[in-house]
Amino acid sequence: SAKRRTAYVCGECGADYAKWQGQCDACGAWNTLGEVVLESAAQAASPASRRGGWAGKVDAPKVTALADVRADAQARVSTGIGEFDRVLGGGLAEGAVVLVGGDPGIGKSTLLLQALALMAAKLPGLYVTGEESLAQVAGRGQRLGLPLDGVQALAETCVERILEHALAAQPKLIVADSIQTLWTDTLSAAPGSVSQVREAAARLVRYAKETGTAVFLVGHVTKEGGIAGPRVLEHMVDAVLYFEGDSGSRFRVLRAFKNRFGAVNELGVFAMGDKGLREVPNPSAIFLSGASAPQPGSCVMVTREGTRPLLVEVQALVDASPLSNPRRVAVGMEGNRLAMLLAVLHRHGGIMTGDQDVFVNVVGGIRVQETAADLPVLLAVLSSLRDRPLPEKTIAFGEVGLSGEIRPVPNGEERLNEAATHGFKRAIVAKANAPKSGSYKGMQVIAVERLAEALEHA
Ligand code: TYD
Ligand code: MG
Repeated sequence: SAKRRTAYVCGECGADYAKWQGQCDACGAWNTLGEVVLESAAQAASPASRRGGWAGKVDAPKVTALADVRADAQARVSTGIGEFDRVLGGGLAEGAVVLVGGDPGIGKSTLLLQALALMAAKLPGLYVTGEESLAQVAGRGQRLGLPLDGVQALAETCVERILEHALAAQPKLIVADSIQTLWTDTLSAAPGSVSQVREAAARLVRYAKETGTAVFLVGHVTKEGGIAGPRVLEHMVDAVLYFEGDSGSRFRVLRAFKNRFGAVNELGVFAMGDKGLREVPNPSAIFLSGASAPQPGSCVMVTREGTRPLLVEVQALVDASPLSNPRRVAVGMEGNRLAMLLAVLHRHGGIMTGDQDVFVNVVGGIRVQETAADLPVLLAVLSSLRDRPLPEKTIAFGEVGLSGEIRPVPNGEERLNEAATHGFKRAIVAKANAPKSGSYKGMQVIAVERLAEALEHA
């Protein structure tokens, strides 16, 4: 019969079930189960498939001493864009599947078209568009003055047909823009639904691994910040890169969130201009607001995301709240961390913000994930509360512990060096991050052990 074996897969967490149910037992989400076809009844009946293929007379699995396996350095191809190479971990690895996520309009299609064109001489590319017409893609490429000779394009959303064309054209690199538009004809669910996205991606990944073709999957991000579609997408691919940035700013940051071929949290910085995305190889000072005089509620920190230091400005606005439950809003940092820091500020700094709304923003649309931001955040909060700017040309970094201690952060000297190079005159840092002499390349370095001390210096 034509009966097919199906499973129901949760779009939130990827758990599967034999029967449909309203709520996912694994993650508790409602109405997230979608139908996925596993195999046809005919396939299911064949003994080879039931035994997973290898239990019969086929070759026994080979066991190899790990020491005998030649670990060839994975061949890398430069994307032609240094900042992109940096985030990928030194260029694109052969056969890698890379998911590039970001808000609509942030520049995903632009970046990948640029990279595809620049790599075409070494890796013949296929640009698969499910969102824009071929004329739109070509128009953009021509306007940007890209070398489009080795780039083939295909306007198609059915993954089986895409793979048919790929088998014929034999590209070494495929860009699928976007994964949300793709669908497979083995599923009845609508394109864009979780099961379609998951299955279409799985097919592309399988093709990539079987043929050694590198694949970029473009994914739009939901309001919650995840790739629309199942989280399992992140487990299927070799690398997940997120494109971040303020819609008001021309700067864009590409961050490695997962990378089997390089460091995570590595950042690449770009500027969007009329010739597309231009890399910013020396981005240190672009995340400062550029105010000429010091402003209340602002503190500059040196963050070290990936492998290089960056000067980043943290802004806070503290204002008497009309609400019985005052607001805490954090943009560019974690909200829970802000709440925790405000509690430490009260308990160990004696400063109450319980009746105030507190807004914290990291300038330039960048996200700061490291704890080195703790001290600068509290200094910015205090400065706004008092309506007094911090002393001019001051930077700070340091983790704040629950008992009010200021903890050192890694690579202290490198951070101090970055600040001194950019003309900062004072640094407030943890004792273990400060040189004994109390100064570094002409910059005064104030060592603090407790939050209360740090607040006195601000
Ligand atoms: P796009 O790459 O289409 O974004 P995504 O694929 O992530 O949705 O980028 C679109 C935005 O970039 C759009 O707002 C216009 C702007 N842009 C420029 O400013 N300059 C350019 O050269 C290009 C190609 C786009
Ligand atoms: Mg696009």
